[in-house]
Amino acid sequence: MHKNIDKIKKLESSPKVIKNLFNKIELDKFLKLYQDLPTTVHNKKQNVIKKRWLKNYNEELELLFNEKVKNEIGEFKMDNLKDENNDDILGLFQESYNPIGLHVDAGFNLDEIIFKQTLIPLTSKGSTVIFKNKFYGNSTNFTIDEKELKVKDLKYGQNMRSSDHLKIFKKKPFNQEEYKKYLKHEKIENLSGLEIDLVYEWELGSILIFDRSRLHCSSSLIDGKKIGLTTFTKK
Ligand SMILES: [Fe+2]
Repeated sequence: MHKNIDKIKKLESSPKVIKNLFNKIELDKFLKLYQDLPTTVHNKKQNVIKKRWLKNYNEELELLFNEKVKNEIGEFKMDNLKDENNDDILGLFQESYNPIGLHVDAGFNLDEIIFKQTLIPLTSKGSTVIFKNKFYGNSTNFTIDEKELKVKDLKYGQNMRSSDHLKIFKKKPFNQEEYKKYLKHEKIENLSGLEIDLVYEWELGSILIFDRSRLHCSSSLIDGKKIGLTTFTKK
């Protein structure tokens, strides 16, 4: 569990979508940066390409991002992982053809005061489901898949696997209609006790900001590929 859980809770707020935060030129710069960055992971099975937003690749975008996000959430620090050269990783670009499963991005250091995370869509089609439910451990993928739960040999920056969420929240069956509409890629049993707070329909120029304690996943509605940029902040 996070040590500063009281402070973390005091900073929490409802998920927020800000429209028209970035213009077309700025979005094109983010996409260009995405093209220029080296590929970190190309998981052919999951059909996902991940690229780390490395510091000093485009300082103009770093300043732009910091200024715009500071305007929305106030003072923050980036909660960065480090790359092999000990340089900061500012965020993660993900290009995916399949929905990403249920997880939380609560970080890898229980001493930090985790704050908000942001999602900037770089393609217009896609959606993300934010649940009301919160978790205060490390970054974790929530699953009931036995094979997945056996994965213990985690590399730096990899999420833990757990089914603890089913112990924490009341085992109320998940809403059938919402399941069919948004979450068919998950097993419905894996969603017991969860309630949707917000379904964020990706829109170019907008940004989604939400607490890092929130459980979330992609919705099953994917039309071809989607590219998004996620960043994580702390106080
Ligand atoms: Fe996430």
